[in-house]
This record gives sequence, C-alpha cells and structure tokens, in this order.
Amino acid sequence: MKATRRVALAAALMLPFAFSAQAQTQLTVQHALPLDSHTGVGAHTFKTALERLTNGRYSVTTQRNDNEREMVESVQIGTIDCTFTSTGPVGNFVPEVRIFDVPFLFRDATHARGVLDSEIGQQVLNRFNARGLVGVVWIENGFRNLTNSRREVNTPADLRGLKIRTMENQVHIRAFTTLGALPTPMAFSELIPALQQGTVDGQENPISVIVANNINQVQRYFTMTRHVYSPQVMICNPAMVARFNAADRALFQQAAREAQTANRNRVTADEEAGVAELRRRGMTVVTEVDTAAFQTALAPAFAEWERTLDAATLRRIREWR
Ligand code: PAF
Repeated sequence: MKATRRVALAAALMLPFAFSAQAQTQLTVQHALPLDSHTGVGAHTFKTALERLTNGRYSVTTQRNDNEREMVESVQIGTIDCTFTSTGPVGNFVPEVRIFDVPFLFRDATHARGVLDSEIGQQVLNRFNARGLVGVVWIENGFRNLTNSRREVNTPADLRGLKIRTMENQVHIRAFTTLGALPTPMAFSELIPALQQGTVDGQENPISVIVANNINQVQRYFTMTRHVYSPQVMICNPAMVARFNAADRALFQQAAREAQTANRNRVTADEEAGVAELRRRGMTVVTEVDTAAFQTALAPAFAEWERTLDAATLRRIREWR
C-alpha cells in the first residue's frame, strides 16, 4: 500500500473515535465526605447511572470537598457543574430552604422523605432558580446527634457552656444559642483540627458522618439527640442544565433519582448499625434522651421561627401524614 493510502486508511479508522471523543460531555460533581459514605455513594451512583443511561456520551468526574459553602459558590459561578451538599450553608443562598433546618420538625425519615418528595419540597427546589442555581433532587444526611469531649449530655442543662461547632446555618446557630451552648460555625473541612486543638468541645452530625469520618477518634461522648433532620440536596449550574436536550434532561433526572435511592438506603443502613459501631469504637453512648425537655428549652427559638420563616408551610409539614 502506498504511503498516502495508508495515511488515508488510518485516518478513516480513527474517525469514529475522534467523533465519540468530541461528543463526550464532561461533568464535574463535588460532594463532601469520603467515597465510602452516604454522600459519596450518592454522587458515585449519579456518575455511573448517567454514564450508563447515555451510553458514555456523558462522563462524570466526582471530587471530594468538605467545604460545602465553597461548593455551592463554585456551582453558582460554574467552575463545577453540580454538588451534593447538606442544607447547612444553602439557606444563605436560598433562604426558603431554612424551613427544613428547624429542629424537631420531622418525626422520622419517612416523614422527612415524604415531605421533601412532595410538592412542598418541589416548591422549595423551584426557588433555587432565582438564585442562579438549579435544585435537582433532595437527598439525605440524616438526623443530627451531638458528640463532645467534655461530659455525658443527658439534658439541655448539660449543654450549657459547651463550645459546639455548627454548620454555617442561622437556624442551627440560633438553636444552640437558645440551648445555652456556644455555637461556633465553621466548614466541615476545619472541624477535625478544631476538635483536636480544643477550639471547640463538640460538634453535631448524623451517625453516618460520625462513623465515616472516625469522629470517635477525637470525641468521647455521643448523645442521640436527633435534634434536627439534615437534608442534602443536589444542586447544579443553570447554564449546564440548559444545554441538555429534553431526552438527556430526562436521563439526567433519572440518574439523580437513582442517586437519591442509593444515598437514602445507605443512610438507613448506617443508622441501623451506627450506635453499636460507635460503642464498639469506645464511645460513651447515650440513647435515652428526653426529647420533650430539649423542645421545651427551644421554645423562644420556635416562637422566632414562626415569625421569621414560612409559618403556614411549617404547620403543613408538622401536620403531614
Ligand atoms: O456537618 C456538616 O458540615 C455536614 O453535615 C457534612 C458533614 C459536610 C455532610 O453534609
């Protein structure tokens, strides 16, 4: 074969690869926590589902970032495409989200998941658009519990004077102030050094987070306060979502729903095994908590949220069956 024909043949053989390489769209998705956590599992499931459903036309890179505010900002300015984040900092971007951060609002996971998947949750997701974000689907962090290095916490009085790291979340900060603790908001990425150096005495997070991050290595006491349900949400950049045609948009939504199922199943499994696991790791675990005492102590904050948040929706959520 002449050299020119050999070159032409090689070029023809390469053509399909050139086209498929060009046609592949790359997405970057960031999530907090290790890959082997409820959040990592959600993001990884989204990746594999979207790549499978689009026969590889989309390729998703997942990255860990334990600073959730930074992730939301990055989605807003488009340096990443999507994030899986707790609602911790999200109320600072979309204030309507704050109703879901109110302590003792949800009775259990069924209640929370039902409300978030109903038109109440959808209405709040719709509010993201006005803030330069797309709220795609509600996922889950779980019910938050307290850990600290100082003492067993059985009653609200035991919390008095404890320096507790909270998320950068106005509702949570108000709750801990009302309980007599000293809330110290910071990103999760700063938490372990802050606990090691004694900048804070304690923190609060769902069992899945405590187990996945070995928080037992820097905290001795665990109290199953379940003081607030912590939703997570998949948020994406509007310009990226606008580039989907209708068919790909449906596949994208399907991948997000698969991520939601995988994430929630993992939270359920973590919560079932978590208390035994934390005891096995040597934590002093308090499971009998006087929830009514915590609710009573929070009365002034509840009264404030009735005035400052959407009281009608709070009532609908409480009455939801
Ligand atoms: O505590 C937090 O900041 C969040 O619960 C975490 C651990 C980043 C998961 O969303």
